Amino acid sequence: MTAVNYRAVWDRRSGDDVAALEAVDNSRSEAVARSTGAWTAGQLRHALSITSGDRVLELGCGAGRIGREIAPHCREWIGTDISPNMIRVAERRLDGFANVRLEVLERTSLSMIDSDSIDKAYTVAVLCHMDKEDLFLYLREFARVLKPGGQAYLETWNLADPTGWQRWMFEVEQWNRVDQNERKDVARNQFCVPEEFQLYAERAGLRPLTCFRDSPWNQLICGKEFSAGQVEAERTRLAAERDRIAYSPLFGKLFLDAAKVIYGERHPSEVLDEIGQLPTCPEVPLFQTYVRGLWAAEPERFGPVPDFSGD
Ligand SMILES: C[S@@+](CC[C@H](N)C(=O)[O-])C[C@H]1O[C@@H](n2cnc3c(N)ncnc32)[C@H](O)[C@@H]1O
Repeated sequence: MTAVNYRAVWDRRSGDDVAALEAVDNSRSEAVARSTGAWTAGQLRHALSITSGDRVLELGCGAGRIGREIAPHCREWIGTDISPNMIRVAERRLDGFANVRLEVLERTSLSMIDSDSIDKAYTVAVLCHMDKEDLFLYLREFARVLKPGGQAYLETWNLADPTGWQRWMFEVEQWNRVDQNERKDVARNQFCVPEEFQLYAERAGLRPLTCFRDSPWNQLICGKEFSAGQVEAERTRLAAERDRIAYSPLFGKLFLDAAKVIYGERHPSEVLDEIGQLPTCPEVPLFQTYVRGLWAAEPERFGPVPDFSGD
């Protein structure tokens, strides 16, 4: 049966730690979540120039996959989420960090966060799981809670990218197969073209600085109350940092291959063989770990898991 609200869907998906990790990015073990979390945290630290003095906010922190890797690098990390179950898992995973605060959200609002109090804010794989009205309400909240001169990193699916379009077609075909008498899943994947995403941010009161858009994701970096000089300087910095922030074409391709494993269109051995033939680059170990994790989680579906320990 279709769940009627965001909390019900995400609570149902995060009954225990493994389920929660699977729900956040299909990481089916702690080791895979640590590896993907470190990758995303690296992008964010470059996009937002996160420093040890910063108060950092994440919307939709889930199991703390990213927060676990950001918290050691900032003064305070605040994780917020609509799902109490997700927050419980994040609490366990971030136990031991003295600078972590976790908040369960009651509705599309960050009302427990003071205005003008946050240096850096981000959200990854969250705005794509809600209606556009809610997306816009949260962007307005980002504009309220950031300090003047503060910055935000916002990410959602990019419909204008060819791989983004293919990912969207998974959703279309899925909807085409199911009983259409039911309401669509409230947490289903939703997509924006870059111009639409930037328009929401701008109308919400944020200043778009740069949008990396050559991948299945719009990666939008915004500032609050930036002067013309600050905009110029930050755009120059972000252009220089592009390779550390933007998803590469190879990342987008490997992401789609992994999605095909999940959707049953490809076997993990085939994808792993192809990855094994690639020249050395940072995407190789990331996706090897990820696809091996998919295989290890479902041997009954994919067959006995090979011994990868010698690789
Ligand atoms: C795909 S997970 C991503 C979690 C985390 N950002 C990460 O990348 O590991 C989506 C998260 O967004 C949260 N979420 C979904 N809808 C939300 C909403 N309307 N308000 C706040 N959080 C929401 C879910 O509970 C879930 O933890």
